[in-house]
Amino acid sequence: MLRRDFIKATCGLCATGLLINSLSGCVPAEQVFKGELNDRKIVVPENLFAKSTLVLIRVKKLQYDIALRQMPDNSYTAILLRCSHFANALDVTSKGFTCSLHGSTFTTEGHVKKGPAEKSLTSYIVTQEENKILIHI
Ligand code: FES
Repeated sequence: MLRRDFIKATCGLCATGLLINSLSGCVPAEQVFKGELNDRKIVVPENLFAKSTLVLIRVKKLQYDIALRQMPDNSYTAILLRCSHFANALDVTSKGFTCSLHGSTFTTEGHVKKGPAEKSLTSYIVTQEENKILIHI
């Protein structure tokens, strides 16, 4: 594939709001979906979870990403990636979330594993409708 064709193809994915993590080197490690906040809801296509149990939701109106994770029972959790200690953006790990500023760690459900943070992370109600996942902000 020519470089120009590759860039066209990958930019097409960016324009639809979908970045696939298999294109390492030019995209983040996690799958990122660029969504919109309408009527206090973010609608996410369920098929994004065909290859992964974690998708980062990025919305212009929100300062922080949301980690949308599919749980083993096929329910979903939506956690705002904002540290509850001093509002630093969090990093996602396979076991939860970490804060690079003072070292707090959180479970995949957003509960504090290690301080200095004392409060759980902000989580949102998630519902499913047909082939869509709705995050209620
Ligand atoms: S801001 Fe995250 S641990 Fe302090």
